[in-house]
Amino acid sequence: MVEIEYKNTRVKLGPSDLVYEPAEDSFLLADAALGEAEPGMRILEIGAGSGFVSAVIRANVKGARVFATEINPHAARCAKENGVEVIRTDLFNGLKSGFRGVSFDLILFNPPYLPTSEDEKVPGWLNYAFDGGASGRETLDRFLEEVRDYLKPGGKVLVLISSITGLEAVKEKMMRSGFEVDVVGRKKVSFEELMVVRGKLI
Ligand SMILES: C[S@@+](CC[C@H](N)C(=O)[O-])C[C@H]1O[C@@H](n2cnc3c(N)ncnc32)[C@H](O)[C@@H]1O
Repeated sequence: MVEIEYKNTRVKLGPSDLVYEPAEDSFLLADAALGEAEPGMRILEIGAGSGFVSAVIRANVKGARVFATEINPHAARCAKENGVEVIRTDLFNGLKSGFRGVSFDLILFNPPYLPTSEDEKVPGWLNYAFDGGASGRETLDRFLEEVRDYLKPGGKVLVLISSITGLEAVKEKMMRSGFEVDVVGRKKVSFEELMVVRGKLI
């Protein structure tokens, strides 16, 4: 069993052909989340993958209550094995009956963000980790259309995007949904720049 260690957290990885392996995007989102998370907050991660980001928050923010969803059953199982309270579902579906309430202080998502055509799809469940549809924003757009329904007043959202995803299009969509928007993390990784965009409900 392969494990990684990061900021007081040890996370078991699933099989690399089935579960997304934490990478620079995961580390950047985890660091940004640690900058926003506070004790006692209810935090939701959509698309938990191995459970890496949620596990880092649980280990470092005492009293934070962290919940997650994940569409890939192999990833959901892996996140559970890493101690994450996870529901296997599409985005927010199923939350109404789970997690003792549907309002969160902070919601995180490192979505599949690569523009992907039919012949670029990866076979099997791992495709959900990468395939952002033709625009690269298809799953993120669906998330942004729903997310404010699950936030407490003044709640925040953190999304990981790439320069490939299109920062301006994401900012514009978030502002139209009533968020004050800032970029709170950046890292250049080979041909792209990764960014964490924070939206705060106005
Ligand atoms: C880029 S990976 C990030 C995984 C993990 N959060 C991390 O940062 O290491 C995106 C994750 O979102 C999941 N995902 C994609 N679409 C989803 C959806 N509609 N609902 C829930 N999870 C989804 C994928 O299966 C994958 O595990």
